[in-house]
Amino acid sequence: MGLCIGFAGKGGTGKTTLAGFLVRYLVENGKTPVLAVDADSNANLNEVLGMELESTLSEAREEMKTKAPSLGMTKDIFIEMKINEALVEGKGFDLVAMGRPEGPGCYCAANALLTEFLQRLTKNYPYVVIDNEAGMEHISRLRAKDMDVLIVVSDSSTRGIQAASRIVDLAKSLNFGVKEYYLIINRVRDTENKDALLEEVKKNNLNLAGIIPEDPLIHEFDLKGRPLIEIPEDSVALKEAYKIFEKILNSST
Ligand SMILES: Nc1ncnc2c1ncn2[C@@H]1O[C@H](COP(=O)(O)OP(=O)(O)O)[C@@H](O)[C@H]1O
Ligand SMILES: [Mg+2]
Repeated sequence: MGLCIGFAGKGGTGKTTLAGFLVRYLVENGKTPVLAVDADSNANLNEVLGMELESTLSEAREEMKTKAPSLGMTKDIFIEMKINEALVEGKGFDLVAMGRPEGPGCYCAANALLTEFLQRLTKNYPYVVIDNEAGMEHISRLRAKDMDVLIVVSDSSTRGIQAASRIVDLAKSLNFGVKEYYLIINRVRDTENKDALLEEVKKNNLNLAGIIPEDPLIHEFDLKGRPLIEIPEDSVALKEAYKIFEKILNSST
């Protein structure tokens, strides 16, 4: 059974960036193949990873309703074909994007079938990394896999930490099967009061995995539209992220 690590947190906290860094970390450490799952309807993990998306699983779901019956193939064969179409191959990892949540109408059958195939697909990968969107409710409808580890990403504000705490509560109530919860505080500036930050973390009963500094190199990459997965090894954010990932992986394998 592979290890599935999910990222959650408010928009703009750095989930996608860190999910991309984790994919790179796993590949560099030979923990391959990795399956990267973009579960944010506003898919952009592919940009961080420097890849093009051809299609998403929500398109597969739509087409299953509209096209499959007229193609003369079973829904099973159709969905398998569509999942393969949506799967993009990288070096040491594959990427699949969930796409948008369903529109009105009944998708229960389509979701059940898609979930079944996704669960079968994830069995081929020792590591699965999921970039979730801020609200995680939709995952309970279309789920790739139970998440073993959930990393909640927050900024350094008091409200941010409180929001992270609510996300942990939400994830607990949705029964994703998470065994370990961690908090990463991202984009912290040197000038910030770390003691006050740690106090807030403690108050909210969160399990702090580490703090990642604001990194000007990330801005530079952003501005040039370069994929963040190519950031140089001496990026301060990447270095801290790697330390944190090492710690998390050592305690969950
Ligand atoms: N440590 C960091 N230092 C500087 N910029 C960062 C850092 N982490 C993330 N960013 C930037 O912040 C923005 C939001 O990050 P992103 O990963 O897209 O967040 P999310 O997926 O949570 O919405 C992006 O422009 C990203 O490049
Ligand atoms: Mg994102």
